[in-house]
Parts: sequence; C-alpha cells; structure tokens
Amino acid sequence: QINEAEVVLFSVPSYACQRRTTLDNHNVTLTDALSLLAENAELSDEDGRGVAFRRAAAVLKALPAPVTAMSQLTGLPCLGDHSLRVIKDILENEASDEVESTKQSDRFKALKVLTGIFGVGSKTADRWIRDGIHNLHQLQESGATLNRAQQAGLEHYDDLNQQVTKAEADAITEIVQEAVVSVLPGAQVVLTGGFRRGKQTGHDVDFLITHPEEGREVGLMPKVVFWLESQGFLLYQKTTRNSYLEVKDGPGRPSSNMDRFERCLSIFKLAKKEERGIKLTNPPAHRRWRAVRVDLVVSPISQFAFALLGWTGSKLFERELRRWAGHEKAMSLSSHALYDNKQSRYLRAASEEEIFAHLGLEYIPPSERNA
Ligand code: GTP
Ligand code: MN
Ligand code: MN
Repeated sequence: QINEAEVVLFSVPSYACQRRTTLDNHNVTLTDALSLLAENAELSDEDGRGVAFRRAAAVLKALPAPVTAMSQLTGLPCLGDHSLRVIKDILENEASDEVESTKQSDRFKALKVLTGIFGVGSKTADRWIRDGIHNLHQLQESGATLNRAQQAGLEHYDDLNQQVTKAEADAITEIVQEAVVSVLPGAQVVLTGGFRRGKQTGHDVDFLITHPEEGREVGLMPKVVFWLESQGFLLYQKTTRNSYLEVKDGPGRPSSNMDRFERCLSIFKLAKKEERGIKLTNPPAHRRWRAVRVDLVVSPISQFAFALLGWTGSKLFERELRRWAGHEKAMSLSSHALYDNKQSRYLRAASEEEIFAHLGLEYIPPSERNA
C-alpha cells in the first residue's frame, strides 16, 4: 500500500541535454510504449508527434525510480495530454489500448517490415503499401524497381535485422583500424554511435576517422573503401562527399562545391567468430559470415569535436542540443561547427567538453547521453 505522502516526486530539467540519462532505465514498459507511438508517428510522416512522444519517453528514462502513480509526474516537462493518457492507461490497466492496437495494425506491421529493408524509408514504404505490397514476398513478386541500396538491403534482410553485438563491433573496429592505418599512418579511428554510449548491442557500427594534421584526411575515405573492398570486407558501400565549407556557406547553407569525401554507408561481410583467422580447406557446410551495417565518417581535426559530439547520439540528445543552442543561446550547432549568432562568429572547440562549455551546459559524458 503506497501512502500518497510517501510517493517520490521527480524533478527533471526540460532539455534532454541538461540531464544525465544512463542505460539504466527504470520505466522500460512506459518508455517502450511511448517509443512505439513515436515510431508509428515517424513512419506516418508525423514528425511533430514523433518528437513529442520521444521527448516524453526521454523524460521517463531520466527518472531515478519507477513511476507508480500519476501524481508523481506533476510538474515534469514534455509530458503532453496524449503521453499522460498513455502512461495512465498503463499504470492502471497494465497496457494501453492505443499502443496495443497500433502494434497489431496491418499498416504498422507492413511499415515495419518494409522500412526494415536498408535503403527503404517511410515514403517508399507508404507508396508500396498503397500498391498493395505489405511484405517481402509481395515486394519480390511485384516487380517494383529497387535501387542498389535496397537490393543489398533485401538480400541481407535477416542479418541486418539482427542486432550487432559489442563483440562484433570490436571485431569490425579492428578491421577498420587496419584499413585506416594501412592507407594513412597516424590517422585515428573512434567508435561512435550507441556503442560509444555504452550500449551492448546496436543496429549498426559507427566510426569517426580523422588525422591530427589538418588536411591529411582529404581523400582518405576512397582509399579506406578501396582497401576494404580489395580485402573482400564490403558487400555494399555508398560514399557521399562532404558539402561543408565553413567560410563560403556559414551554418546550414549547403555548398555546391564538394571538396571532401565524408561519409560511407556500408554493409560489411564479417566472418563468424569461430571462423576468424581460419584458412578454408573444405567448402563450409554453413555460411561462415554475416552482414553488418557500418557507417564511416571522415572529419578534419578542426571539426573533430563537433563531429564526435554529433555522431555519438542519441538522436534525441542531438536534437535537444541543437534546440538548446538555437532557442536558449542564439547559436547554431552542427556536426561541423558552432556559430554564435550574437557575436557573428564561429566558436572553436578541440573537445566535447569545450562545446558544452560554449553552450553553457554541464558536461554530459557519452554514457549519460542515452536520452
Ligand atoms: P543504434 O545504431 O541503433 O544502436 O543507435 P545509434 O545511436 O548508434 O544510431 P545511429 O547509428 O542511427 O546514429 C548514430 C548517431 O549519428 C546519431 O547521433 C545520429 O544523430 C547521427 N547521425 C545519423 N545520421 C546522420 C547524418 O546524416 N548526419 C549527421 N550529422 N549525423 C547523423
Ligand atoms: Mn549506430
Ligand atoms: Mn549509424
């Protein structure tokens, strides 16, 4: 029996970048429910609603104990009527009808299956659903035209929908490190994304690559990709160039002058653990490798701290940092730079700590950015 007077009251600041959010989530049932509604909204191109549910879920992730009564939520930020209704339903009935019916709906299930294909976004999935395509079989029968990414995504569907483990991420780190130092000695590789935040699994593995001498990183990505390709590590890759030129563009204005390769979305062919380093004598009875999504980003050292902060996530934490910068500090933050609109100048930073300081925020380490 919980006495109302003994109920723990919570207090959290309103921006996720002002909070410490570890992986130790005391409200998994509630945050899973809100995340599902967020996902459904995002898949339906209702980004505003999606963000609202993401923010609500993030507030609950930051709480130091499970929520047991609605009264505990009084005064908490980012909890709109809709989110509160969902939370109330779950606290009172152990489930929310809206969440359950969304989960069971044909449309949501089809959107999940189709966007589960690498290279397929909500718009493409929606178009296919309107053409009567609800699953992979129907897609294959339909004769729909798939681009190169989508073909690879379909081919490796099962592998890519299986979580990547930390051990697999470590094995890929070794390969990427070997590739990078082979083509440019002294270059550095950092694991970013969810694994840098301490997650034990992920949907992909993210890397940031730089060189301590400015300019030495130019042309690095195609060389790394060529090395990986020639060693047979890549099942798919698409490299896109960096379009960022600070002086010419300023924040938020993309340049037409593309001068640096920047990011590579790829699918790695990773040998199964028991097979690594073993030379084949007889043809294997079973497949000896699996496909893993890997993102590579190259940054000049002058932008490294911004790139590191920008590619570590979580996505909501990043979004909240940019919102804080814009709304509270009149600054524009990107993965390249921080611009102070009042002083009309860029603020340099050699570390993430310096960026938080420029933004007037307490430093939050990666393991506490799991908003
Ligand atoms: P899992 O991979 O699902 O474990 O989670 P994750 O947090 O690693 O997500 P993801 O790999 O999708 O993204 C990692 C970080 O890269 C997130 O902070 C994203 O915001 C960021 N990111 C992803 N795509 C882009 C992009 O196109 N540009 C920039 N600047 N950042 C991106
Ligand atoms: Mn990732
Ligand atoms: Mn990624």
